[in-house]
Amino acid sequence: MPATLNVVVLAAGEGKRLKGRLPKVLSPIWGRPAVAWPVEAACELGPERVIVVAGQHLERVREALGAALPEAPLEFALQQDPRGTAHAVLAARDQLVGLTGRLLILNGDGPLIHAELLDALLATHTQAGAAVSLLSVSLDDPTGYGRIVRAADGGVDAIVEQKDASDEQRAIREVNAGAYLVELPAALELLDRIGSDNASGEQYLTDLVGLARAAGHGVAALHWPCAEDALGFNDQAELARVRAVLRRRIVAAHMDAGVEVVEPETTYIDAQVTIAPGARILPCTMIEGRVDIAAGCEVGPFSHLRDGTVLERGAEIGNFVETKKTRVGPGSKAKHLTYLGDAQIGAKANIGCGTITANYDGRHKHTTTIGDGAFIGSGTVLVAPSTVEAGATTGAGAIVKRSSVVGRGETWVGVPARPLAPAPRAAAGADEQEHEGPSGPGGGDDGD
Ligand code: UD1
Ligand code: CA
Repeated sequence: MPATLNVVVLAAGEGKRLKGRLPKVLSPIWGRPAVAWPVEAACELGPERVIVVAGQHLERVREALGAALPEAPLEFALQQDPRGTAHAVLAARDQLVGLTGRLLILNGDGPLIHAELLDALLATHTQAGAAVSLLSVSLDDPTGYGRIVRAADGGVDAIVEQKDASDEQRAIREVNAGAYLVELPAALELLDRIGSDNASGEQYLTDLVGLARAAGHGVAALHWPCAEDALGFNDQAELARVRAVLRRRIVAAHMDAGVEVVEPETTYIDAQVTIAPGARILPCTMIEGRVDIAAGCEVGPFSHLRDGTVLERGAEIGNFVETKKTRVGPGSKAKHLTYLGDAQIGAKANIGCGTITANYDGRHKHTTTIGDGAFIGSGTVLVAPSTVEAGATTGAGAIVKRSSVVGRGETWVGVPARPLAPAPRAAAGADEQEHEGPSGPGGGDDGD
């Protein structure tokens, strides 16, 4: 039976070098806080317990992870007054005491780590029968990372942080990636011995390596060929770089599953988005939050789908259309310059160019309902809450007032929109026409 695996993810650092408005580990990356990425990778190994160490923002970290990974059974440990990565692991001491087996320790700011790599680290650890195993990569520019100092026999002697490294050590390109396996309970004793006699005055987790060697324990290192997987982020430029890598990975996964992404380089898809095979995503499109796109849909170019959008089979969303908390029924189309917020749209409706659901009255959001086969004329404003029933039509430029119900099959035109009167008799109606504004229902859009 394989040894038990437990996990600690370090997420208590302030991230001062980011100079951002959020704690570093909450930096958003494709719809999730940064720390959710390594936490998810660790969870894929099926660990017994996963403990996230957080600092003064613990409640925010708990909340953000709960929203991003609702299924993950996470525990939290508070690191009061963070004083380094070893100090962070020890913040989870109460939860770790009494555990046996392997403990995987991950930096919370390495969002590119993945389960396949962690599996390989476990295999290295097991084969070597090591007390401590670490992950290393070789970087062209190793600035900022801990350097791996190798002994004459090729084994890892120590990890030396940038600030503490000699010129000679700084020339080393092999660096510590921030993922470790240790054995419990032995590791707790080693951790207790870590001091803070270094340039930062912090308790470095990386000192575990030297201490283990000195105690005669085996230290193993997995040198991973894909350096990108180990990238962390300490400043905004590095954050942008890891975002770019993850963006490409998300888009590639959708393409592997059979989604047609016409221009991957300009397609932005959040982690939670689901897209059925056979859907088509055109260039310069952003799909954010929890969005569900069915087969046969076409999105873009230049579309912005936001949280809570559901596109049912064959729906089409075109350029400069923004959707939020909106269901677009099968075969319905909104192809140009439109905002659909808090809208429920049935099947085969046509939403004309420039349609706006005015969903927000300054205090509350309200729903707009559009029935099957409805035809919304160009430039219609639907002030929510309001309803356009099945088969109904609005004229170009119609302003459908709040609480209106455009009845089944009716045509409403004008400002404010009213049911189109039966064809006026020759003499009557000049006044009426004025109120109705644009004549008749014209100016819709056939969706092409
Ligand atoms: C760390 C490693 C370095 C490695 C690099 C890889 C140490 C001493 N150095 O450096 O060898 O090359 O990661 O990216 O570990 N954290 C806490 N509490 C603290 C301090 C940090 O929870 O008191 C967390 C941070 O939130 C972060 C992680 O630990 O997620 C790493 O801390 P960071 O300060 O970014 O370490 P680096 O300087 O990048
Ligand atoms: Ca870091």
